[in-house]
Amino acid sequence: MSLKRRAENVSGPLAPSIFDVSGGLRWHLRALMSRSVHWVPFRLALAEFLLRWRPPQNKLLLIGPSAGWCMPDAALTRFGDVHAVDIDVCAELLFRRVHAKPLREGCNLTWACADFFHDPQSVLAAYPDHAILFCNVAGQRRFHHAHWADAEAEIAALQGLLARRHWASFHDLLSGSCSENLPPLSLPARGQGADVLRQYGLAGEWFDHLTAALLPENAPRMILPWRFQRDRLHLVEAGWSVPV
Ligand SMILES: C[S@@+](CC[C@H](N)C(=O)[O-])C[C@H]1O[C@@H](n2cnc3c(N)ncnc32)[C@H](O)[C@@H]1O
Repeated sequence: MSLKRRAENVSGPLAPSIFDVSGGLRWHLRALMSRSVHWVPFRLALAEFLLRWRPPQNKLLLIGPSAGWCMPDAALTRFGDVHAVDIDVCAELLFRRVHAKPLREGCNLTWACADFFHDPQSVLAAYPDHAILFCNVAGQRRFHHAHWADAEAEIAALQGLLARRHWASFHDLLSGSCSENLPPLSLPARGQGADVLRQYGLAGEWFDHLTAALLPENAPRMILPWRFQRDRLHLVEAGWSVPV
């Protein structure tokens, strides 16, 4: 097995768009067609993870939630206020439709169509009382940087910015060819991508999403396999952190 760090389809700096590589119309169409079919095991595993994350706050900041195609309504209902930041111009409208029930039942949603990574410090500072959830966004960062090492450093630096906060993230760790449904895997702390592949018995070339240093080294985590396409598997890492 081998790990590939360089990406071919780098789109360059972000601007609000309906055709971005990590969101946009193509993504929404794929989500509509797949979420009730081969995405179901991933959505169930993600729901379980999100229900176990119990930050003490009543307010939630979502980074890159898109329409919340993979998120359960129940992940929102216990928060009175939710603020979302996503660069995709279609995301808010679709999110309001997909999660109409909790929004009708008292969860107050505000939204910013913006690039979180342009000035993450300011976004985080503007919502000091919110728990923070990164919604499968960190692993997309490498597609918006000309140099992969810059993306990797930017993701690793988030941990420092978040040190005093309750936060969680689920993000692509590795992706590659595979058409099996694999079970979630619990890991006690950070490990090597190659070890995760070995534990699943996976061979071949795997694409590294450069997110390995996002969660604190000693934070327990889950690997949630996501059959993104019938023959393409994303190994999504999910974990949370408390203030230090
Ligand atoms: C893979 S999708 C998230 C899917 C989501 N978890 C769901 O359940 O539908 C990634 C999202 O991150 C957003 N995104 C990517 N880079 C971003 C950035 N720099 N700032 C804000 N949003 C960003 C994209 O627009 C897209 O909606």
